[in-house]
Amino acid sequence: MTHPIDDIPRDLARRFAGRDIISPREFEKEEILFLLDTAKRFEHFREPILAGRILAALFFEPSTRTRLSFESAMQRLGGRVLGFAEKGVSSVAKGESLRDTIRVVEAYCDAIVIRHPLEGAARVAAEATDRPVINGGDGANQHPTQTLLDLYTIREEKGRLDDLRIGFLGDLKYGRAVHSLVETLAHFRVEITLISPESLRLPDQLKEQLVQQKISFREETEILPAARDLDILYTTRIQKERFPDPLDYERVKSVYQVDRSLIGEVGEELTIMHPLPRVTEINPNLDDYPRAAYFRQAANGVTVRKALLALVLGGIE
Ligand code: NCD
Repeated sequence: MTHPIDDIPRDLARRFAGRDIISPREFEKEEILFLLDTAKRFEHFREPILAGRILAALFFEPSTRTRLSFESAMQRLGGRVLGFAEKGVSSVAKGESLRDTIRVVEAYCDAIVIRHPLEGAARVAAEATDRPVINGGDGANQHPTQTLLDLYTIREEKGRLDDLRIGFLGDLKYGRAVHSLVETLAHFRVEITLISPESLRLPDQLKEQLVQQKISFREETEILPAARDLDILYTTRIQKERFPDPLDYERVKSVYQVDRSLIGEVGEELTIMHPLPRVTEINPNLDDYPRAAYFRQAANGVTVRKALLALVLGGIE
């Protein structure tokens, strides 16, 4: 029997060994498809190909899925994880700079995953060390591994990445999962609908990129009728922690709620995704709707991160 990782194309695999994963902008389309194909092979794969390797998980911001799925992925492949999940327990609380923290931690590990509230922090970390650095979310900027698991989920749920009409709903201004995914979708034949309050529109710079890449998109403020023309509705949490003025958050915090009645209006073909955590934007009465994909999406995080860690740590040589 051939081993699931035996026939992974080694020329592409080698491109990822030791590589920083900071922004999805750095991936060619061929590399994205390769990562998704490799992830598929890792779906049920649990062999200790990363035995003896250590991942440092430095989480300066709250996280459940990203941190624990990285830990699970590493452990499923026989590796180990050290780190912290709260900035108050690291020496940053004593005033240590991020650069110094990274220069110290590099001696304790083979790769680093970092989540940080400041945009660009993952890049700063990557510049401070020769160890591969994976961005687990930097402020409102980017979240590349979320994008990989989102694309993986879209392909699993819809069977394709082209010829899709994808709507983004909620906080398109501060949502880094949205920013990374929108940029990456530009590689595919998609139509994008951006549904948000005026104050939470996708940043101009990203809209300009869509124009340059000739991706068709439109902006709406209401879910209906826009959702009638969609294959996927990617719902997001309003990013409370990023609002400079809490009153602005209060004004928009429950502006959208997706529930079973929406499906009644738009039909049973619409797939609902969400990077999670949700607050009130998806009613739990939607959870048993067959095309509510968000818990499968979260589970795919382990599959995709197993593949990524195996590649970055040179486990597939
Ligand atoms: C997202 C994040 O942290 O950006 N969560 C995640 O990683 N699954 C989305 C969010 O926090 O709303």
